[in-house]
Amino acid sequence: MSTLLVTGAAGRIGTVLRGGLPERGWAVRCLDVVPIVETRPGEEHVVADVTDLAAVTDATTGAAAVVHLAGLSGEAPWPAISHANIEGTYAVLKAARRAGVRRVVLASSNHASGFTPRPAGGQLREADAPPRPDTYYGVAKVALEALGSLYADRYGMDVVCLRIGTASAEPTALRHLSTWLSPADTVSLVDAALTAPSPGFVVVWGVSANTRNWWDLTAARALGYEPQDDAEVYAEALVEAYGEPDPTDPVHARVGGEFTLPGYDAEAVEARAAGGEHP
Ligand SMILES: NC(=O)c1ccc[n+]([C@@H]2O[C@H](COP(=O)([O-])OP(=O)(O)OC[C@H]3O[C@@H](n4cnc5c(N)ncnc54)[C@H](O)[C@@H]3O)[C@@H](O)[C@H]2O)c1
Repeated sequence: MSTLLVTGAAGRIGTVLRGGLPERGWAVRCLDVVPIVETRPGEEHVVADVTDLAAVTDATTGAAAVVHLAGLSGEAPWPAISHANIEGTYAVLKAARRAGVRRVVLASSNHASGFTPRPAGGQLREADAPPRPDTYYGVAKVALEALGSLYADRYGMDVVCLRIGTASAEPTALRHLSTWLSPADTVSLVDAALTAPSPGFVVVWGVSANTRNWWDLTAARALGYEPQDDAEVYAEALVEAYGEPDPTDPVHARVGGEFTLPGYDAEAVEARAAGGEHP
């Protein structure tokens, strides 16, 4: 078994990986700012803030690879996002380099390119979805990809950025028919990112083999990812509940979906968090 450090291991994706990666040969060392209540046999546990460089370096020492999930997983005021998501990614990459870890998998997001229009026909390749963040959260994912690129080029590390769509037990909205990443495919994708021979720096979409996929999986498959699930099995129920997706609705016309709507205006989110009005 090779030791794998998973940051944000107490969260939704972390919990899925802790369930599936051990049978693929990974002994999981969990790091999270909150303690994990239901631990699993063979796991190690570290309770620390991911921005604590000394603690993350200690946790990284002896690991073969790192999967970095920790951070705020939605929009939040800038001080919180920049601290947890940007400083956190900086600390993880620096700790990995210091500890001699050569492979880091970073949880990016479709929201790094959320304002990119979705092509009416065909699927979008990563190269055609440059940084175009829809939120401060998306800005932090752009920074995450940029930091990964720097560490790959500067230090020769393998850094795989996963632009995850919607990682959930099952699709619950029409958009998820195109953006869903199933739990089983989450494990397969991360395992492929960890084991692909010498990927260098690469950014790939993270979705299942959905019939209605907006995003092209060629680059992810080149890592060895073989998705098994398709959100289409949920389509009948979702279309019955909500109707067919309207392609002119921004939720379906842009990569980032509802995060591009006025309700996610970053300054408005900050003003609400502070209890005030949008200036
Ligand atoms: N779930 C999705 O659909 C999705 C989509 C795109 C990207 N992502 C990304 O994947 C990652 C994991 O997502 P998730 O759905 O499991 O999120 P989650 O919110 O369930 O889990 C995030 C975990 O990070 C931990 N955390 C937060 N701040 C921390 C800090 N400063 N130090 C240490 N730990 C900290 C939290 O305690 C939590 O356990 C996130 O980076 C998220 O942005 C998720």
